[in-house]
Amino acid sequence: MMRALLSDLPLVFDRVSLRAGGTTMLNRVSLTIRPGAPTLVVGPNGSGKTSLLRLCMGLDAPSEGTVSWGGRTQSRQTRRAILFQEPMMLRRSVAANIAYGLAQAGYPRNRRAARTEELLDRVGLLELADRPARRLSGGEQQRVAIARALAREPEILLLDEPTASLDPAATRHFEAIVLAAAQSGTKVVMASHDLGQVRRLAGDVVFMVRGCVCEQASAGDFFEHPTTPEAAAFIRGDLVL
Ligand SMILES: Nc1ncnc2c1ncn2[C@@H]1O[C@H](COP(=O)(O)OP(=O)(O)OP(=O)(O)O)[C@@H](O)[C@H]1O
Ligand SMILES: [Mg+2]
Repeated sequence: MMRALLSDLPLVFDRVSLRAGGTTMLNRVSLTIRPGAPTLVVGPNGSGKTSLLRLCMGLDAPSEGTVSWGGRTQSRQTRRAILFQEPMMLRRSVAANIAYGLAQAGYPRNRRAARTEELLDRVGLLELADRPARRLSGGEQQRVAIARALAREPEILLLDEPTASLDPAATRHFEAIVLAAAQSGTKVVMASHDLGQVRRLAGDVVFMVRGCVCEQASAGDFFEHPTTPEAAAFIRGDLVL
């Protein structure tokens, strides 16, 4: 099967460092992201979560070391999608934002309308299809953004604190969409500051401190038996420097 041959998984970091302007954003990170339940990336501000996700997407290249997708160090971004904390909406209707994602993914023009409807239904936004996307609430916009990302049927969905500015109800709604995507086979890699969210979503946890992966463990092990004092402190809500 073509799809199996071209899988982007596992996504492997081999001694990856990332530096810019005298700052070390990532310091010899080795990490394997496998298919399965969501991988949640946690750690204090500035620990390198966003940098890690950008490298997962292929938006930046490592200063040292290699990132590989399914064993390939060169991989087109077509099977991956990334969402940031602030959704970026085109100055168009909700439906047109989704259709744009489909066009970008090379989806046949004559099937875009039906597929747009299907995607909007999946994220609970059918009623808002004709509204200007930029007038929606933050939570609604983030659902448009994830529908647009899902339009390309990504094998890997990278989410950088997508619920950071959403209220609890909007957060839960977004999480349900993420879980449904994960259950249908999309590998989710998500940065989060919300430990409750990490407990709800994570299969495994990558805990970062100062550009290093301090700990990678199943969610159960991370919360019940953290192996580093930094992780234990972080789980308690203490300051990690
Ligand atoms: N383009 C850049 N040039 C120089 N330094 C950068 C650049 N981008 C990020 N940094 C620095 O790299 C470090 C890691 O940043 P990164 O954004 O990856 O952290 P983060 O864990 O996502 O933080 P937050 O929780 O605040 O989102 C920080 O010290 C940041 O200031
Ligand atoms: Mg960040």
